[in-house]
Amino acid sequence: MAIRVAFKFMRESLRRKTKFDENKCNSRQYFCTGFSETAQPSPPLIPKTVPHFSKKGRLFTGATIGLLIGGFAYASTVDEATFCGWLFSATKLVNPFFAFMDPEFAHRLAVSAAARGWVPIEKRPDPSILGLEVWGRRFSNPVGLSAGFDKNAEAVEGLLGLGFGFVEVGSVTPVPQDGNPKPRIFRLPKEGAIINRCGFNSEGIVAVAKRLGAQHGKRKLETSSTASPVGDEVVQGGKAGPGILGVNLGKNKTSEDAASDYVQGVHTLSQYADYLVINISSPNTPGLRQLQGRKQLKDLVKKVQGARDEMQWGEEGPPPLLVKIAPDLSKQDLEDIARVAIALRVDGLIISNTTIQRPDTIRHNPVSEETGGLSGKPLFDSSTNILKEMYLLTKLHLKVIFLDAYLGISTALIRNTLFYNLHLGKDSFDWLWRHLQDAYKKIRAGATLVQLYTAFAYGGPALIPKIKAELAQCLERDGYKSIYEAVGADYR
Ligand SMILES: Cc1cc2nc3c(=O)[nH]c(=O)nc-3n(C[C@H](O)[C@H](O)[C@H](O)COP(=O)(O)O)c2cc1C
Repeated sequence: MAIRVAFKFMRESLRRKTKFDENKCNSRQYFCTGFSETAQPSPPLIPKTVPHFSKKGRLFTGATIGLLIGGFAYASTVDEATFCGWLFSATKLVNPFFAFMDPEFAHRLAVSAAARGWVPIEKRPDPSILGLEVWGRRFSNPVGLSAGFDKNAEAVEGLLGLGFGFVEVGSVTPVPQDGNPKPRIFRLPKEGAIINRCGFNSEGIVAVAKRLGAQHGKRKLETSSTASPVGDEVVQGGKAGPGILGVNLGKNKTSEDAASDYVQGVHTLSQYADYLVINISSPNTPGLRQLQGRKQLKDLVKKVQGARDEMQWGEEGPPPLLVKIAPDLSKQDLEDIARVAIALRVDGLIISNTTIQRPDTIRHNPVSEETGGLSGKPLFDSSTNILKEMYLLTKLHLKVIFLDAYLGISTALIRNTLFYNLHLGKDSFDWLWRHLQDAYKKIRAGATLVQLYTAFAYGGPALIPKIKAELAQCLERDGYKSIYEAVGADYR
């Protein structure tokens, strides 16, 4: 690459130099003919702008070419891990440009770049302390990308390649829908937050199934990790490759029968999913959150589980089913959800979606008045509290479920929210460092896996290796040998 740039630079310099010589020659002719008696008609005396290459300029060009070639030669001698680290760090340079763009346009650009593979690929193996087994699958690390970033499964491979332990696509609705009018995503960078009222903009289950089907085949071909488990052997990674893929299902805005929407999602997409999520907690689809009520939730989960279980499954069995809940729930709501989750052996809860609350810490910002769900740093404490409550409500039963390995059931409480500060400088670096430990805090509060969106939107790819490194360091510092030992450590 560096050599190509250097050649292009030299070619351009030579071309300009040749033009310069020609011009010089032409102007000499002009002066000759201009003063000769035979010359006619004499052209107007307009001085030509002739590019001038000073000695300084030539030195500068030479030094640049030398540096490029030298840099390239040096880069080719470093090991893959160092080079990979450089690439991830280099993505930080792009963040400020994204910050100037309209949030939805920046998001579109990021998804397109990941879909085309214009993002760094994590070549460094994850620290072994981060590896864990959930639902009979081996995750190389517990840090995932939350739903809403890749709503239409355009960039699964690129996103997994960034080093996420898992990527959740969606929410996908049965019928394509545009979502709410734009603008519908708002940044609060100083507060480390986003407000969105997207309203499930989705290309629909058929388009997503086509895409996932094509990617599934390609990823399967490229990897040998998809071999069926032998006996009790744990599957390394997901169905189609080393990375785990979650599919998050939503309902259409105008649909009267929510359960039928989720069932359609299961029928069309579950064959590609390593886990499925029923999203009943987006604040931007009218009536959706009412599905979290005890009776509604019970009916819904039963229907969805039924639809999944009546499909034909190989040795691996059906994908686990998770429910994603809101952070704006009363104690009674939480108890109801916990009862249903335990009774129906739901495989996991994702805590949590965005909040409709506006904490005091963001009220000074006029953007906080925008309607929609708030995510990011201001959500951290309230969602951690819900996580703690849910962990305690389901803890005893989780143990039973975990022991019941024959059914292949285990439960993961998955929690979002991390924040990464993109400004550089000593103070902000200290601040950033404190917040990188958020993943560890969530795990100690009861989460087995963590996922994030807002932090990734601000921090970009460079954030992922940092979170993983910090998490591994925290576990080692506190004497844990694995993630499992740290899950729920706050209550021991
Ligand atoms: C722009 C945007 C779109 C989102 N879309 C979805 C979605 O379609 N489905 C869903 O379950 N969650 C969606 N979410 C919620 C995130 O998945 C996540 O649960 C939430 O943002 C809290 O995590 P965070 O603080 O790490 O961002 C969206 C969030 C944002 C910011």
